[in-house]
Amino acid sequence: MSVEKTLSIIKPDAVKRDLTGKIIAMFEEKGLRVVAQKKILLSKEQAGSFYAVHRDRPFFDELCEFMSSGPIVVQVLQGSNAIDLNRQIMGATNPEQAETGTIRREFALSMTENSAHGSDSAETARDEINFFFSGLEVLQF
Ligand code: CMP
Repeated sequence: MSVEKTLSIIKPDAVKRDLTGKIIAMFEEKGLRVVAQKKILLSKEQAGSFYAVHRDRPFFDELCEFMSSGPIVVQVLQGSNAIDLNRQIMGATNPEQAETGTIRREFALSMTENSAHGSDSAETARDEINFFFSGLEVLQF
């Protein structure tokens, strides 16, 4: 399997509860390495532009409110099959449907406050990494 990079976000509900270290450990234990990382606070407009693909969904406003409600950790994870592996480690979007041992099953509070985001395809990963990071900020090795 090829080595990939993917974008991961530790969402405000998890950062607020000091779960950042535990979540990063779950990625590292499964072979994903952090090759870029920062803690930032988005405006509601910036959250809206990141989630523009969901603009017409009923949950869009609540999602943007939440994603700008407190600091988030944005990071680039690298590893074999990183895009799918990140999503497996996170679990299903709805925490009630997420498997035991996944980030969302262990930590998420609701469908919106679901602790983590991960890119869903190679194209999305490239766009989402470029949304938050310049080339110089991403470790190349
Ligand atoms: P995420 O993987 O960040 O992508 C879009 C986010 O919208 C999703 O996680 C959830 O936090 C949020 N969301 C809220 N309601 C829904 C829903 N009904 N379907 C999908 N995503 C939802």
